[in-house]
Amino acid sequence: MTTYLSGIQPTGRPHLGNYFGALRQHVEAARTDGEHFYFIADYHSLTSIHDPVVLRELVREVAVTYIALGLDLERAVLFRQSDVPEVTELTWMLSCVTGMGLLERAHSFKDKVANGIKPSVGLFTYPILMAADILAYDTDRVPVGKDQVQHLEMAQDMGGYFNGRYGEVFKRPEAVLAAGGEHLQRVIGLDGRKMSKSYDNGIWIFETGKALKKRVNRVVTDSRPPEEPKEPESVVLMDLMKLFLDDAEFEQWSARLRAGGEGAPGYGHLKARLTEGIEEHFAEARARRDELLGDPAELDRILAAGAAKARARAAATRDRALAACGLR
Ligand code: TYM
Repeated sequence: MTTYLSGIQPTGRPHLGNYFGALRQHVEAARTDGEHFYFIADYHSLTSIHDPVVLRELVREVAVTYIALGLDLERAVLFRQSDVPEVTELTWMLSCVTGMGLLERAHSFKDKVANGIKPSVGLFTYPILMAADILAYDTDRVPVGKDQVQHLEMAQDMGGYFNGRYGEVFKRPEAVLAAGGEHLQRVIGLDGRKMSKSYDNGIWIFETGKALKKRVNRVVTDSRPPEEPKEPESVVLMDLMKLFLDDAEFEQWSARLRAGGEGAPGYGHLKARLTEGIEEHFAEARARRDELLGDPAELDRILAAGAAKARARAAATRDRALAACGLR
């Protein structure tokens, strides 16, 4: 049986990149046969969120988002990472077979440092905790966005180092990217860089009304007039439109941009269509989110049930690892 696992950090409200790159894949995968583990990576988020009230709220937001998007809780285990302390024990065991050099090559660590963040030891060892998350559940497939592929390769390396030293304890996981193209695997943000919680260039999936309009208004454009023919590939708004329009409609907009002239759409038209697309796409899930927020006891029950199942599985792997390295 194939085991799927993935996680999302509660460092902000889930944005379009999280959805198209990861969450949508998780919900869809959980409709197929196999085992499915999805978690809120709250230990990881301690590397950047330092306000306990904010953190608690964001953890609930991510959990509610999964359920509102239709995660089938009969098939999938939804849990909080910190409810599974076994994962930190595995992190230690893996850290003892992992060279500093491997971590020094991590792009996301290097990017954060380059952006002026003063790194904690936790930020540096972040990929080891992530490897432990993955290896703890004998995971086969990890549906993620493109930015996590290197972390996945590091998890493969770490599992391999441990197995090489102590015998076969961990399974080798593979990353799975969203089928359908690069625009889903690496969603562009308002400023043309990768959409990311740390750049404040995202659009919250449940944003609506004036707030959504304001956000969409921030998508970078240039001062070229509508009549000037344009390559759709060079228009950031079109990358975002592609997420919501069917192929035929997307092609129509592209053709009108390419042709230019009197009938060509201005950036304002594209923005209005994008806003509408986002509101429509998430309308049902937004309504479900509102309902769920009204029932916090139910959410606690779901997370507690998920934690029990996840812990049992991670404890078995932890025991195997302890025995292999001579600690039992
Ligand atoms: P995080 O919280 O940054 O993002 C959650 C998921 O969303 C994907 N993603 C994107 N996909 C496409 N375009 C984007 N612009 C975009 N931005 C984010 C991410 O690739 C990810 O799949 N380290 C992980 C959390 C984690 C994890 C794990 C994931 C912890 N342990 C174990 C998988 C397995 C992270 O920071 O994701």
